[in-house]
Amino acid sequence: MSERDLNNTVTPNPKLAIDYCGIKMKNPIIAASGTFGNGPEYAGYLDLSNEVGAISVKGLTLKGRHGNPGPRIAETPSGVLNCIGLENPGAEYFVEYILPDLKKYDVPLLVNVSAGSVVEFAWMAETLSVDGIAGIEVNVSCPNVECEGMAFGVDPKVVEDVTKAVRKVTNKPVIVKLSPNVTDIVEIAKAVEAGGGDGVSLINTLLGMAIDIHRRKPLLGNIYGGLSGPAVKPVALRMVHQVYKAVNIPIIGLGGIMSGTDAIEFMMAGASAVQVGTATMVDPEAIRYIGRQMAGYVEQYNLESINDIVGAVHQ
Ligand SMILES: Cc1cc2nc3c(=O)[nH]c(=O)nc-3n(C[C@H](O)[C@H](O)[C@H](O)COP(=O)(O)O)c2cc1C
Repeated sequence: MSERDLNNTVTPNPKLAIDYCGIKMKNPIIAASGTFGNGPEYAGYLDLSNEVGAISVKGLTLKGRHGNPGPRIAETPSGVLNCIGLENPGAEYFVEYILPDLKKYDVPLLVNVSAGSVVEFAWMAETLSVDGIAGIEVNVSCPNVECEGMAFGVDPKVVEDVTKAVRKVTNKPVIVKLSPNVTDIVEIAKAVEAGGGDGVSLINTLLGMAIDIHRRKPLLGNIYGGLSGPAVKPVALRMVHQVYKAVNIPIIGLGGIMSGTDAIEFMMAGASAVQVGTATMVDPEAIRYIGRQMAGYVEQYNLESINDIVGAVHQ
């Protein structure tokens, strides 16, 4: 029987508490955007107020989107390819109809925003800078309509412009979520810092493809999709480590975290907090088990706080 069956709520372990850019979390584990619905969908599996450090809601856009044609998900060895295409009801609908329900839980909320232009990013950030939102997570993996659809996140100048534009219109912490589909992740992270961003989260998915050899067709409706899960973890970990050495803003690390050990690796590489995505699709209670394993590590090494391991990997 789980602690939850006995008590209905779970007592958070104070040694796992963190402060990320002024956002107070009961543990460092954030539910990753797009893999946790808007949160309440998981209330039957997790005590959202005590077991989840924060929730990054499904990516929002200016207008609602139906997303890409199916199939939208394909399993790969050690990972998942997805091409959801940012299906969502739009920012204003979110504020009016979804946020009130989410505010019932005592858990910080990050709004994950995507846009087609710098101006649209600013509009999104302003519209979503409302009571009940703890921070803005800016998804720069989406295509820039002003640059022939090239992702914002591949050009440091554009990333700096987006960060500045968002920074100008909000007092909430601005966290820019980086795309791994770049040659030099460090220069992109530096651009966020130069633009006044409070933090970076990395990584989003790696662009990939799968083929159905019998139909001789791509497996995904959108041909290409984003790869996530354990397959991307070493790439993500390397990028977190490189970025940690190069910038002074705090990092949220993600990509393939399936266990407490994985999460601790990310924190040792330099992440102040972590996000869990694909693991939740395998087990909706993954965040609980990852948290428990992290607490076990803190006990095992007699640490005062999980914060003590941030960047603690020896060279
Ligand atoms: C089905 C699915 C939907 C996603 N939707 C979004 C999204 O809306 N916005 C975003 O920034 N990232 C999105 N992501 C990326 C995840 O938040 C995360 O960056 C990525 O999956 C790597 O972490 P993981 O290996 O723990 O899943 C999505 C990922 C998946 C698998």
